[in-house]
Amino acid sequence: MTDLPASVPRSVAPVVLDHPLVQHKLTRLRQAATSTAGFRRLTRELSLLMCYEATRDLPTEPVEIETPLERMEGRMLSGKKLCFISILRAGNGILDGMLDLVPAARVGHVGLYRDHDTLEAVEYYMKLPEDVAERDCIVVDPMLATGHSAVAAIDRVKAAGGKRIVFVCLLAAPEGVACMNAHHPDVKIVTCSIDRGLNEKGYIVPGLGDAGDRLFGTR
Ligand code: URA
Repeated sequence: MTDLPASVPRSVAPVVLDHPLVQHKLTRLRQAATSTAGFRRLTRELSLLMCYEATRDLPTEPVEIETPLERMEGRMLSGKKLCFISILRAGNGILDGMLDLVPAARVGHVGLYRDHDTLEAVEYYMKLPEDVAERDCIVVDPMLATGHSAVAAIDRVKAAGGKRIVFVCLLAAPEGVACMNAHHPDVKIVTCSIDRGLNEKGYIVPGLGDAGDRLFGTR
């Protein structure tokens, strides 16, 4: 775990989007009968709404502009912009909606698999923008289950210089939230629901099944 400066909160409370639109779309997403196309579309729409919340604290600065009627002072994002980081492969399903909202964001990818013997997360792919240290990072994966891969991915983002990190997922298990808080208490979690828990196979219950399989039709 990275040492935190005293000014960094020890644990940021997760933000659960209890907006009616989000809950409606999430319920349709969970349904086993939802088609692959429907699942993709709902994920895209929910990702856009989660991105709206995840970017709530971005700094802005005043800018002078001219409307067709007069000069005024507006506000725009200041400094370096965003980097979205997808945890492969299901994280890619979240990217589309986020890029709809922030088309100029840079995108990084982290690929990890779990070694059956050591149970450690092993990296098989990683590509981040060179200036990741100067950007606000939003790490995305649809499911925060045990939290092991999210923690391992964020370990790597921090090792590359990432400092201000938000984690966005469709669903979280309490176990995953606890794991994230234990390892990365400075990382805010934005999610549509914190479900009951994990089953014996590590699936979130009641959940929505395997997010990657449902997104890419590989069931
Ligand atoms: N990954 C998934 O896709 N679904 C779960 O329920 C847990 C992890």
